[in-house]
Amino acid sequence: MDSILVRGGGKLSGQIPIAGAKNACLALMPATLLSDEPLTLTNAPRLSDIRTMTELLSSLGAEVTSLQEGKVLAMASHGPINTRAEYDIVRKMRASNLVLGPLLAREGHAEVSLPGGCAIGARPMDIHTDGLAKMGAQIDLRDGYLHAKADGGKLKGAVIDFPFASVGATENIMMAATLAKGTTVINNAAREPEIVDLADCLRAMGAQIDGDGTSTVTIQGVDRLHGATHRVVTDRIELGTYMLAPAICGGEVELLGGRIDLLAAFCEKLDAAGISVSETENGLSVTRREDQIRAVDVTTEPFPGFPTDLQAQMMALLCTANGTSVLEEKIFENRFMHAPELIRMGADIEVHGGTATVKGVSKLKGAPVMATDLRASVSLILAGMAAEGETTVSRVYHLDRGYEHVVTKLRGVGADIERIKS
Ligand code: EPZ
Repeated sequence: MDSILVRGGGKLSGQIPIAGAKNACLALMPATLLSDEPLTLTNAPRLSDIRTMTELLSSLGAEVTSLQEGKVLAMASHGPINTRAEYDIVRKMRASNLVLGPLLAREGHAEVSLPGGCAIGARPMDIHTDGLAKMGAQIDLRDGYLHAKADGGKLKGAVIDFPFASVGATENIMMAATLAKGTTVINNAAREPEIVDLADCLRAMGAQIDGDGTSTVTIQGVDRLHGATHRVVTDRIELGTYMLAPAICGGEVELLGGRIDLLAAFCEKLDAAGISVSETENGLSVTRREDQIRAVDVTTEPFPGFPTDLQAQMMALLCTANGTSVLEEKIFENRFMHAPELIRMGADIEVHGGTATVKGVSKLKGAPVMATDLRASVSLILAGMAAEGETTVSRVYHLDRGYEHVVTKLRGVGADIERIKS
């Protein structure tokens, strides 16, 4: 398994291009199942998760052609459609569950393996299945698969109240509802930019959707959807991750394609910590106002709150802040696995349940550390970039799931980082 070698270095300067959003693309790709006409995605990120979704959709009978070195995905689902999503693919990536709604909408039935847990939590699907049941789907769990069947072969519109603003459940129900008979209203829907991006794409395909980006999304079912071409929205999590590079190392970096509206709560926290974010004609520019970061408290929440996917990276920044910071992880039950690895680098962190207390130290020290999940892996790289000495991050396959060309992008702004092939 490859590893990443980082040597603590000086200030950064230059530009980092931000790719299309992994979490938008993983919801947009299954939308091809909703139409027998071509759906083309541009600005797609080049990631292993996208290759996994490609493998899954191909197993269902969709054609997915990767063009322009993976930046364009030309898809078509002429049929026949295989409605069984096999465990050996689904287990690799939880987002595979986003084929459930489209398969039910297209074919009236589906067998989708439960993804199984992952490092950061149990990741149940009750909000997805309860919502689909309200739309007339009979769903049974047997031998690890969700066996779903729409009454009369077609889903019906329904009013669905989510107990939690689940991103994936909002996406699954929204896609299922585009072809249902009648109107569906999702109350307490997720408001993430990836939801709006999916709604934009579905509307381009002929769907009738209103309220995306708010807590109430209304979908008027139509008889069929047609093809479309859609540009994947900028990846706000990659953006926030790289904004933390100059925050941690000093210097000034411009994030090409960055938009403040994608990360308002995160930018507020950066400002409170002493980091300046300014809009440029090509994106966002980030610099550190003072020599030392100020401690800030962070609580992760559904959008527009502070994103859980940036919690690990923010902790890396706060390890050397002036004072004590308290981070509360309210979205996932086990998302502090980066803390013990940061402690190996000299961080002073105490974790109790969903709360991590970080007492700032003057400097971290390089050490061999292990990536445990996608966002933890990049948090350790950021920490290593400002630490004294060398840090080796192992198990970087986690990294390849969500960050394209991370070594190239960081070397481009002066980081001393390389990938060690093994
Ligand atoms: C999406 O996951 C993202 N993944 C996650 O990003 C992100 O962390 C998460 O949303 C929250 O923003 C993709 O978009 C592919 P949820 P998702 O349904 O849809 C519980 C990354 O690093 N829940 O909003 O699975 C669940 O267990 C990944 O890129 C239920 O209890 O998130 C979790 O505690 C990690 N029942 C919370 O809600 C359900 O039916 C948030 O889940 C569904 C979810």
